Amino acid sequence: MNAVDLIVAKRDGDELSDEQIIWFINGVTAGTIPAEQAAALLMAIVWRSLSARELATWTAAMIESGQRLDLSSLVRPTVDKHSTGGVGDKVSLVLCPLVAACGAAVPQLSGRGLGHTGGTLDKMEAIAGWRAELSYDQFLAQLGEVGAVIAAATADLAPADRVLYALRDVTGTVASIPLIASSIMSKKIAEGTAGLVLDVKFGSGAFLPDPAMGQELARTMVGLGHAHGVDTVALLTDMDQPLGLAAGNALEVAESVEALAGGGPADLVEVTLALAREMVDLAGLDADPAEVLASGRAMDAWRAMVAAQGGDPSAPLPVASEVDQWTAPASGIIGRIDALSVGVAAWRLGAGRARKEDDVSAVAGVKLRRVHGDRVAAGDVIAELHTDDPSRLPAAHEALSSALTVTDTSPEPRRLIASRITYA
Ligand code: URA
Repeated sequence: MNAVDLIVAKRDGDELSDEQIIWFINGVTAGTIPAEQAAALLMAIVWRSLSARELATWTAAMIESGQRLDLSSLVRPTVDKHSTGGVGDKVSLVLCPLVAACGAAVPQLSGRGLGHTGGTLDKMEAIAGWRAELSYDQFLAQLGEVGAVIAAATADLAPADRVLYALRDVTGTVASIPLIASSIMSKKIAEGTAGLVLDVKFGSGAFLPDPAMGQELARTMVGLGHAHGVDTVALLTDMDQPLGLAAGNALEVAESVEALAGGGPADLVEVTLALAREMVDLAGLDADPAEVLASGRAMDAWRAMVAAQGGDPSAPLPVASEVDQWTAPASGIIGRIDALSVGVAAWRLGAGRARKEDDVSAVAGVKLRRVHGDRVAAGDVIAELHTDDPSRLPAAHEALSSALTVTDTSPEPRRLIASRITYA
């Protein structure tokens, strides 16, 4: 077989055979296909897409490039959640212990953030002592005892994706529905969960801002889950404005702890409870997540989850040495705060990384003081900008310069959950 034949076939709109796809994924994993040829095929796929058969074979080969975890020894039913990523999306931090407190085992293997969307591991690492790396035995033991794990994916979990994602990231080939769907689902299927709830974001802060594209991505991923025996449901949720008030690692942990304590912003709680209900249903449990959250049992599970991974749930979170203010340029009612602008501002303050190997700041980020629908006067504080490096402030302010829409009339209430997608 020859990589050029695959590239030319896909470039010209022909379908690849199963043998060609398996050869390519195996070659990418083994490092025998040069990066320029792999990247050329990825770009051809961005343009020409993959047929349903090609996508099924592509995803299966990615799963088989590594190990599929066996969680069948657990007594608790397994169910996980994956979000396509957004600004202020700290849902996993509340959801994972909440669903564990409902009786499930939540095996959440996560990644780090890249660009303007934060990564769950980066957020958890704001907690003193907490470590993301667990051995398979530690992972399994914690799932059995606590029911909740948030940890780094191991190197043998869909290793083909590790290579392909790194290439896509630097060759403008991320935004493709079959490539995103196979990337996410190969990792989640290999993780061994029996049930999966997908939170597919749309709006300015999402990977795919267009809701119709989000819907198609959701349908594609639900189909892949079904084909591999993972009960999968998706919710399409709004990421046009930040979720909650905080965007940035320690700021988001603090807000998650508020939600676990029974408070927290209403939008965060609404999305978390909607996803939790889906997970509890898939796990076949008879529990009401709202009641479990109010009872304090989710907070107990959070404390146990953090402590099991070396973290101190009582330790104060780090705080920034500089807190600046972003103020309203005019009086009126806030119609919209653009999610992407807030995400970029948090990133420029130090909360995110530009390259995989960069460090992130635990303390940097944006904390909104006013939201959609609030009446403000010119000069009122809309948000605080947190950083340890004041030289970053001008670029963060610049990112926010057109983020705020102030109107004369009350805006429509936000519809956070646009649709639910199941296997048809
Ligand atoms: N997240 C992933 O894991 N893969 C993608 O391709 C996009 C988002």
